Amino acid sequence: MLILALESSCDETAASVVENGRIVHSDVVCSQVDLHAKWGGVVPEIASRNHLIEVIPVVDEALARANVSWTDIDAVAVTQGPGLVGALLVGLQVAKSLAMVHNKPLIPVHHLRGHLSAIALHGVDESPGEVPPLPHLALVVSGGHTAIYRVDSYQDISMLANTQDDAVGEAFDKVSRMLGLGYPGGPVIEKSAVGGDEHAFKFTLPVIKASPLDFSFSGLKTAVLTAIKRHGSLPEGQTLKDLLASFQRSAVDQLIARTIAVARRENIQCVTLSGGVACNGLLRTKLGHAVAQHGGSLFVPPKRWCTDNAAMIGAAAFHDVAKYTEPSSLMLSFNAKSSWSVSDHGVNQ
Ligand code: KG4
Ligand code: ZN
Repeated sequence: MLILALESSCDETAASVVENGRIVHSDVVCSQVDLHAKWGGVVPEIASRNHLIEVIPVVDEALARANVSWTDIDAVAVTQGPGLVGALLVGLQVAKSLAMVHNKPLIPVHHLRGHLSAIALHGVDESPGEVPPLPHLALVVSGGHTAIYRVDSYQDISMLANTQDDAVGEAFDKVSRMLGLGYPGGPVIEKSAVGGDEHAFKFTLPVIKASPLDFSFSGLKTAVLTAIKRHGSLPEGQTLKDLLASFQRSAVDQLIARTIAVARRENIQCVTLSGGVACNGLLRTKLGHAVAQHGGSLFVPPKRWCTDNAAMIGAAAFHDVAKYTEPSSLMLSFNAKSSWSVSDHGVNQ
């Protein structure tokens, strides 16, 4: 089963050819990061316009790199939501058109189910990794989401913890902007924090009385701002390193504390980690140790499949192929869903 998948929910235009939800024959990602960098974050209008420019060349490139033609493709998959509505619309309309013209079924995919499914992927020349046993917990950390899911099966996913305010990636991006370090914040903060003293600034873990397992990052962001104000000017040199290292440790410690608390409560040993912030080395290492201490294993995709990509959409779509076996005129009614709960799986229009 060869699926051509498209992703355009935020600022990456991506297409990929994936076999049986696991083997990645091609993975093309056209990032708009440079276009948005000068604005300090993603500008929805700019994102939509550039998806329009890039989407057809990216699809053509994905087919060419996989060395396949339309006759080899069994189905088209596309991110239906959640995401920026104008950005989603571009991928969705193109996927609908391609599926209609080439007479293929169209499989609409939830973006977060994509992040959850990334763990199954491997390249054509790589051997398949172990897949996490069921049930497991999934920590999804990106610029738009910070949540813990219980995965009992692909059809049975429930959210157990969510952020009360900012997503963790958003906190990295905002702190980076405060310090004039650029966008996206995660990679630059991780790099600039090397050599910093992660205990130099004391940032406390937030306590949310009503829902103690939920996340909150707005207090941490404000604490960094207060530290900058106290310093009197934008910190530089060792002070900047110390501040970034302390911020990063605090954000990572919160993610770990909540994940292990949920794992204990649910009596689940295995955990997956995905989404853009899963590229963070400190998080990967520390969460790995914490999960091992808890008696389980941590499953993390390679970094290229942590940030937004279409291969993960192809992986997620594979779970749903049975529901969309035939090309159908119904596909024309699939609409972009800018907000969409991950447990709301049955409704696709
Ligand atoms: O999954 P993703 O590509 O897009 C969304 O769905 O949001 O995640 C992007 C986010 C950004 O906020 C970026 O700052 C963060 O992931 N990120 C990182 C790192 N690399 C990317 N955060 C911390 N450390 C990193 N190394
Ligand atoms: Zn994402």
